[in-house]
Amino acid sequence: MRTRSLFSLRRALVSLLLSGSFAVSATAQDKPVPNPQLASPEINAKVDALLKQMTLDEKIGQLVQFSAGFATGPGSEGKNQRFDEMVAKGQVGSFLNVVGADATNHFQHIAMEKSRLHIPLIFGLDVIHGDHTTFPIPLAVAASFDPKAAEIVARTGAEEARADGIPWVFSPMVDIARDPRWGRIIESNGEDPYLSSAMARAWVRGYQQGDLSKPDSVAVSVKHFAAYGAAIAGRDYNATDMSQITLRQVYLKPYKAAVEEGAATLMSSFNSINGIPASADPLTLTQILRNEWGFDGFVVSDWGAVAELKNHSIGDGPTVARKALEAGVDMDMEGNLYGTVIAAQVQSGKIPVAVVDEAVRRILRVKYALGLFEHPYTAPAPPYEPTQEKRALTRKVADETIVLLKNDAVEGGGELLPIKSKTVALIGPMADDKPDMLGAWSAGDPKYVVTLRQALEEKLGGDHVLYAQGCGLLSGEDARIFAKNGGPQPITDENATISQAVDTARKADVAILALGEPAGFMEGEAGSRVHLGFTGHQQKLLEAVVATGKPVVLVVVAGRPLQLKWAAQHVPAMVEAWSPGFEGGHAITDVLFGDVNPSGKLPSSFPRAVGQEPLYYAQMPTGRPAGNADLSHMPANSEEKYLSRYVDEENSALFPFGWGLSYTKFSYSTPTVSRQSVPVSEIMGSRKPVVTVGVDVRNTGSVAGTEVVQLYLRCPNVSVEQPLRELKGFTRVTLQPGESRHVEFPLGFDELNFYNVDLKQVVEPTTYDIWVGGNSLATAETNLKVE
Ligand code: NOJ
Repeated sequence: MRTRSLFSLRRALVSLLLSGSFAVSATAQDKPVPNPQLASPEINAKVDALLKQMTLDEKIGQLVQFSAGFATGPGSEGKNQRFDEMVAKGQVGSFLNVVGADATNHFQHIAMEKSRLHIPLIFGLDVIHGDHTTFPIPLAVAASFDPKAAEIVARTGAEEARADGIPWVFSPMVDIARDPRWGRIIESNGEDPYLSSAMARAWVRGYQQGDLSKPDSVAVSVKHFAAYGAAIAGRDYNATDMSQITLRQVYLKPYKAAVEEGAATLMSSFNSINGIPASADPLTLTQILRNEWGFDGFVVSDWGAVAELKNHSIGDGPTVARKALEAGVDMDMEGNLYGTVIAAQVQSGKIPVAVVDEAVRRILRVKYALGLFEHPYTAPAPPYEPTQEKRALTRKVADETIVLLKNDAVEGGGELLPIKSKTVALIGPMADDKPDMLGAWSAGDPKYVVTLRQALEEKLGGDHVLYAQGCGLLSGEDARIFAKNGGPQPITDENATISQAVDTARKADVAILALGEPAGFMEGEAGSRVHLGFTGHQQKLLEAVVATGKPVVLVVVAGRPLQLKWAAQHVPAMVEAWSPGFEGGHAITDVLFGDVNPSGKLPSSFPRAVGQEPLYYAQMPTGRPAGNADLSHMPANSEEKYLSRYVDEENSALFPFGWGLSYTKFSYSTPTVSRQSVPVSEIMGSRKPVVTVGVDVRNTGSVAGTEVVQLYLRCPNVSVEQPLRELKGFTRVTLQPGESRHVEFPLGFDELNFYNVDLKQVVEPTTYDIWVGGNSLATAETNLKVE
């Protein structure tokens, strides 16, 4: 275990001073250093030397970030003037949304040549699922259950961002999202802390490569700290409210994983947590992040989140700026508050200058670690074009993300998929739509998207793809607003286009329906919805085509779990394609025709009805569970009513977490443990695995396939009730027909601990239930005794 350097010990002491009333363990200095570059004595010596030369105004300048559009061409000088002057005076430390070598170099030259201390600017940008080259949305990448896929997306994004002059990306988002009403679920890794933590680490590795100084590494900004995904009722920016145990055991886990992987920066969130706005919360920003986790990087606020603290009603401008800074928000994104109200409070003694110094230190450390002082400029790059190599990468990742939800046998044949027909009807507003294949938060040019129609025509020949759009993604007023915002022109007579689609379906042996949700309009930030069905007249189109009696394959293109109950009851084959990116059409076609055997698994439970939300598999026990509970103390027949269930819908998900079919079948042996029992003291003593769970997985079908083998456990009969099951291991295994593989999962403190009422991570004597299988309903079971 690495121990803290003198410099970081001093920082621990400063944060101890800043953290007010929180008790900090005397062994804080023994904490591991999550990012050795940021803790290095060399970098910290340089930071301290520079800090000594800085005036208060120059220090505060480092804490200020603006969003600057960069103008070129005639008259541009005037347009850039305000920021040019501020940079020259050292009043800005960072920009966002300044992109490209020309734009970034323009400001960087001023910072390096005209500002008194020649401190480079750091340029940040939202690079969410690729920069130019657009991969599937992060929720889809999580569906691959393949951390390497996340690394590929991050790596490609980092290289392209760097070529654009961007050494800092506002990614990954690691907010646990358990409510698909929340539009930002698209940016998340879904509902599960274990999966989300594994993916969080992978995103950080892909971006930072464990070495910020590499010319093609970018610093991450892990967001949105903290618990933004638990917005009440799925309404974006809304408050969150949860127990400290849930906060730590569920919501903070992925951020912690990202910090342990060396994340250089975090972004503070818009929401409040238990009554304290996250962007002014000393508990999460100082006590947990700095004192407990040993984070040495800096925290940038979300856009205007410092100024918005006034709307949270915790004070006027100067007060909220002070609260945010003292809590641990080091940089004010597009809030213009730190730059205007901090200096006077330092001069009057209200804010100790040590607080400002510490924030500056954290920012300068990252600038040094990225090598910006030595290499501040970016060489001009040729205009972007997606190479064959990049297309192949996006297709490979997209292939892994697609989830086969359902594949029933149809009359006169076997399972509907893979498609055997040579001629298909292709129907629906997503069939030939480019922008919505990219998904929300994408900077890629839609012209590079391969639509499903293009890919099918390529595969089958144009004459064999009978296309009809059927309807728009939106109808009525929504469609008109969408059109005004750059969406397609509304269809004037959708009854006519739906009946054309029905005629088209009748002409083919199988109808592929590509339906979904308009990404830019309804998903991502501020994309909360209370209805999770198909938008516009798509449901009507679906029902009309199903009524023809032709076998229907439903392809869903959407950034969130939609409510698919009607489809699941009436459509034999369903494919969740998410928002698949540039190569979406090819990837969907790969799966529909069996060139790729689907292997994606759901990172998020799909509801039967919106009223079930927030719906997730890791439910807590209840005293009145629906099922086989002991309710002998209740009046006779009460089990029919007084149970924890809905009277008008089943409790279970329509498609549960971890769900995903294949064109082959896998069988599981009964799992075994390498030791029957393990002492608590051995588990608590280190983070090394203490036991392995083994299982044999066999491909019992006739084609090769990849299974995501998943391990779940339950920790019953301990001091704090624990979920009925939780994911604690997964791995992808590719097997030829008839092939069997022994898979092992190591378990140790990280998998077996829970938070007790004192908020300590503990292991208590108990017997764990362990299941291994291909989804969260896994039944192959073993046990592990801990004594
Ligand atoms: C607001 C979003 O919440 C955040 O995710 C993003 O990084 C910033 N805006 C910057 O664009």
